[in-house]
Amino acid sequence: VFIPVILAGGKGERFWPLSRKQRPKQFLSLDGSGVSLLQATAQRLLPLAGGWENLWVITAAPIAEGVLAQLPSLPKENCLVEPEGKDTAPAVAWASLAIAQRYGEDAIIGFFPADHWIKDQAAYEQTLAAAIAYAQEEDAIVTLGIKPHGPATGYGYIEQGVLQREMGNLPVYQVNRFTEKPDRATAQAFVDSGKFSWNSGMFIFRAGVVLGEFANHAPQLLTALKAHGAAAYPTLEKKSIDYVLMEKTQLASVLPANFGWDDLGDWNALERLFPEAEANVDLGNHVNLHSQGCIVYASDEDQVIATIGLKDVVIVREGNVTLVVPKDQTQDIKGLLKQLQSQP
Ligand code: GDD
Ligand code: MG
Repeated sequence: VFIPVILAGGKGERFWPLSRKQRPKQFLSLDGSGVSLLQATAQRLLPLAGGWENLWVITAAPIAEGVLAQLPSLPKENCLVEPEGKDTAPAVAWASLAIAQRYGEDAIIGFFPADHWIKDQAAYEQTLAAAIAYAQEEDAIVTLGIKPHGPATGYGYIEQGVLQREMGNLPVYQVNRFTEKPDRATAQAFVDSGKFSWNSGMFIFRAGVVLGEFANHAPQLLTALKAHGAAAYPTLEKKSIDYVLMEKTQLASVLPANFGWDDLGDWNALERLFPEAEANVDLGNHVNLHSQGCIVYASDEDQVIATIGLKDVVIVREGNVTLVVPKDQTQDIKGLLKQLQSQP
């Protein structure tokens, strides 16, 4: 049995003011289709799961109601609710324990971020089928590697080792090393070497294999969750699976992914979603003289955003908030939110 689990507990703050506490990035429809990123993720995984009864979601308490509202067909018992978000290591460990308990240690589990964009569904299914078959036959933690476009520092970097075998016609390689979010210079050296791919954030393995690796590399986390379940959360360290397992495990493998992938990290991603846009990406009523390279979003059709002579600026109008930020500083939205929260 293959059990895909959607990781849906993140905040997606860099899409503020469209994303809010009760409406994180995965609840948004950034392409204007009306289908949210979370809903699109579920739709994409259903053919591989073979139906809703095999699809799982793990999310955090503040947004759990929203998740169930967005996915009305999801069986309630397949939705794990963390008392608070502790990043992805506890989420993966807890969900893996629950799935091993329900389906046994031979169940194949896949973890999938809730907020990614995938272009080619057929290629996606084919790659995952290969990953699943590999995880069934080998004791492996399978990752999907994305060809890097540049020295981005927001990704994990996977160094490809020797070819292990072909699954169908897709090669599976050993992973020599995994480095989460390197600094700029290291990322540049990785890209220049030609040996690295970006980690897509999806992981596929047998339940027993990942639990064994947690026992090896994070025994306290596993013991606490085994003993106390969700009640262990207040004591757990906030850390991602990338640091807790991926940088340490010897069992990692990588399959090159060629299905068209984007993690929609911040507002600039809209340029990649709408490559045909001419002077500016206009999602909303943008009236413009001589502005170039801007990304303009207004959630209400009655709102007019008028600009003259701007270059490379992001403008977002949502509810009673207007954000204006140069394209190359959208990373700092997180800092802005900290400042907002500390205000009375
Ligand atoms: N349930 C739960 N609980 N889900 C969470 C939590 C949590 O505490 N924290 C984050 N998530 C979810 C997010 O909603 C998202 O879908 C997924 O887990 C990944 O979390 P991110 O916070 O977006 O991770 P990242 O983008 O910094 O890094 C990861 O993804 C990159 C690719 O997009 C890493 O795996 C990188 O190595 C990878 O390159
Ligand atoms: Mg992410």
